[in-house]
Amino acid sequence: MKKSEIKFGVVVVITFAVIGAAVSLIFGRFIDFGSSKTIETSAQKTKPIGGTVSFSPPLLQDAPAEIKDAVMLGYNIMMNTQKYAAGYVGNKLNCTNCHFNGGITEGGRNGGLSLVGVAATYPRYRKGQNYSEDIVTRTNDCFERSMNGKPLPSYSKEMTAIVTYYQWISNGLPIYANIPWLGIEYIKSTHTPNPANGKQIFAQNCAVCHGNNGQGTQVVPPLWGNDSFNDGAGMDKLKDIAAFTLNNMPMTNPKLTDEDALDVAAFIINQPRPHFAAKKK
Ligand code: HEC
Ligand code: HEC
Repeated sequence: MKKSEIKFGVVVVITFAVIGAAVSLIFGRFIDFGSSKTIETSAQKTKPIGGTVSFSPPLLQDAPAEIKDAVMLGYNIMMNTQKYAAGYVGNKLNCTNCHFNGGITEGGRNGGLSLVGVAATYPRYRKGQNYSEDIVTRTNDCFERSMNGKPLPSYSKEMTAIVTYYQWISNGLPIYANIPWLGIEYIKSTHTPNPANGKQIFAQNCAVCHGNNGQGTQVVPPLWGNDSFNDGAGMDKLKDIAAFTLNNMPMTNPKLTDEDALDVAAFIINQPRPHFAAKKK
């Protein structure tokens, strides 16, 4: 064999090895190597990919130099929306009042509503519009409803910063992974909510911080009235506020039963609050 023929042979072998490895990497996840048959049920097809993921968001200060300013502005907007997105907020809330620590938490008990991994899970199907929604539109839902404010232009410095921040804190999580700490786990109790009992629960467990009239203080956010979220907000839905309360309130010491959480939630959402003009309900 000539030297050039040997070279050609080696190149061919390597090429096939690389293609083979790529094919098995891509299709390997669908193939059960343990059995002789290839199994792919419809359940597996619809299951989000990614397998088990673990919670380990990077530190903000470790963001690459070119995006660090945007990441930090995004974080500041989450923590002090009043200051850093003034003009787009119509109440006294900050994102972090619900997305604790700017969303850098593992959710669940005392974690508020996590945002770690959101960048990997959008665009996502949204029931309200029967189509998929991107992260900018989803964020503006919170601006218009939770914050009773105005949508940030998608090209604005602020929205770009928020999206960069999501992207950074989602670093390392596979696209469309099933991220267990995102979202709210609703209460399963079939108890019929009793707002009259909820009023008592509120007086005993919440008023000390949120005020007798739910108006809040300098350091505690309001629960109803002009300075609160509007009636189009997720937090104004019984199942959302009940589950949030069960997991997180009283702050740092959540201790209500499922039934009491449902009752106090029913009481709070019956109180007056701003009206969301474009409400679809
Ligand atoms: C020890 C003080 C304290 C008590 C008691 C307390 N909260 Fe809170 N609550 C807070 C603070 C502080 C926040 C904002 C957390 C943050 O920004 O990190 C908050 C946030 C909230 C929020 C989301 C933000 C908003 O204002 O809409 C809801 C809803 C809420 N609390 C409901 C309740 C309910 C219901 C109770 C009684 C079962 C309760 N809280 C008891 C301190 C308290
Ligand atoms: C009064 C409470 C509250 C405030 C304040 C709030 N949000 Fe939310 N946010 C929610 C609720 C409730 C959801 C829905 C959670 C769910 O259904 O999984 C949500 C969902 C989101 C989501 C989608 C998360 C997911 O897992 O799909 C994003 C992104 C988001 N909020 C961003 C923000 C930003 C940015 C701000 C501040 C401008 C903000 N939110 C202020 C209550 C709030």
